[in-house]
Amino acid sequence: MLSTEPRVQENLSYPYLPPQNSPQTSLSPNQQLLPLTAKINDRDRLEIGGCDVTALVEQFGSPLYIVDELTLRTTCAQYRDAFATYYPGTSQVIYASKAWSCLAICAIVASENLGFDVVSGGELYTTLKAGGNPETIYFHGNNKSREELSFALDRGCTIIVDNRFELEMLCDVAAHRPHPARMMIRLTPGIECHTHEYIRTGHIDSKFGFDPTQLQDIFTFIAQKPQLNCIGLHAHIGSQIFERQPHQDLAGVLVDWMEKAIACGLPIAELNIGGGLGIRYTESDDPPSIDEWVKAACNAIVKACQTKGLPLPKLLAEPGRSLVGSSCITAYTVGSSKVVPGIRTYIAVDGGMSDNPRPITYQSVYRAVLANRMSAPPSETVTVAGKHCESGDIVLKDAHLPPTQPGDILAILATGAYNYSMASNYNRLSRPAAVVVREGLASLILERETYEDLVRQDRLPEHLALPPKE
Ligand code: LLP
Repeated sequence: MLSTEPRVQENLSYPYLPPQNSPQTSLSPNQQLLPLTAKINDRDRLEIGGCDVTALVEQFGSPLYIVDELTLRTTCAQYRDAFATYYPGTSQVIYASKAWSCLAICAIVASENLGFDVVSGGELYTTLKAGGNPETIYFHGNNKSREELSFALDRGCTIIVDNRFELEMLCDVAAHRPHPARMMIRLTPGIECHTHEYIRTGHIDSKFGFDPTQLQDIFTFIAQKPQLNCIGLHAHIGSQIFERQPHQDLAGVLVDWMEKAIACGLPIAELNIGGGLGIRYTESDDPPSIDEWVKAACNAIVKACQTKGLPLPKLLAEPGRSLVGSSCITAYTVGSSKVVPGIRTYIAVDGGMSDNPRPITYQSVYRAVLANRMSAPPSETVTVAGKHCESGDIVLKDAHLPPTQPGDILAILATGAYNYSMASNYNRLSRPAAVVVREGLASLILERETYEDLVRQDRLPEHLALPPKE
């Protein structure tokens, strides 16, 4: 049972709270997955950041993404503090903004002194506009355009070069500039990990990064190019990973390659171990805490460098999901239902695969609470369907929920990562609004799209326009 007291002092100063990943045993399993400021108010409703979720839906409409600022700042601080504790050299945490790129999220993250991983001109533009410091912006991607490379170099960002085609393009673009291009090399480390095959990237058969067989030649090539300043190596092994061992193995692989790159004359001073730490979507998910993950990675880098007698590089990590995932819930309104006798009961909500494509794409499993009747016992097993014209548009399969009725507010938990950023307008649904909540104040960070927004980019050539109806 969730306490009626806030789980934390609603005070945004440091130090923050217990690690976000550690279960709070006094709470029911689903309630443990809520953001840190969650409480039940005296109307038996869910509050986040001091705001009543049901009232937020009345004010801002449904569906609604609700981001708890304190939870997001807490995870930023946990990463920063863990690196300061466990890594004796310098370090920089950079936010993988693909998890959720918009001005407000990026501004919060930038204000916490994190850098950014961007993968497109659009993410770079958003990050810069939000106040991201170009010196800590790293540009990724396996098919950057010449324009994107120029844009990033103009602003003083670091390019993480992914392949030979890009490398040659960068040589060309950088040759016309006053300063050498600051760059890193992304390599495929050949590390397998247990996660969905679509979000695995470290194995050899991956579209990302230089294959190990190419690397020696690439080091030699770069060492001969005065317009390139290759300061580091990068690898990322995948996402939603619960084991520590793959990242420890990665440390060894990166340090091995660092030694070889230095031997080729490259001024390698930074290693980037990527992101990938998983979060709890359900009560059975058991990832390491941020502190444990950072400790394991830092110790492995330190040990590998000591063994080889190499100086410690600046250490970078680029988490996305574990920074923003647990800070958000999505509130939907319950509508129609259908009983298929002897098989299942469907209840439908007013969103689905367009605001959260993860269940249909990766068979991701989420948990929910009934935000307007928090203490109602879960006595039914229902399948929560989205409203899209697609049978696979299922938000939750076989969920244990209290009996619901139309108008109830269902909150799906841990929707901060890869929900809004992968949202679409499928079936011409408008993308939902998003608010950030803090100390009883809800601030709009994304406007709900209107019908007019949906046709804004449409063009109707004159010869296709129908005559006006009489
Ligand atoms: N660095 C690189 C180079 C990446 O490709 C990614 C994620 C990250 C960092 C951040 O990984 P994280 O800490 O978030 O696990 N859409 C999928 C996830 C795709 C991840 C893509 N790359 C999902 O919804 O599960």
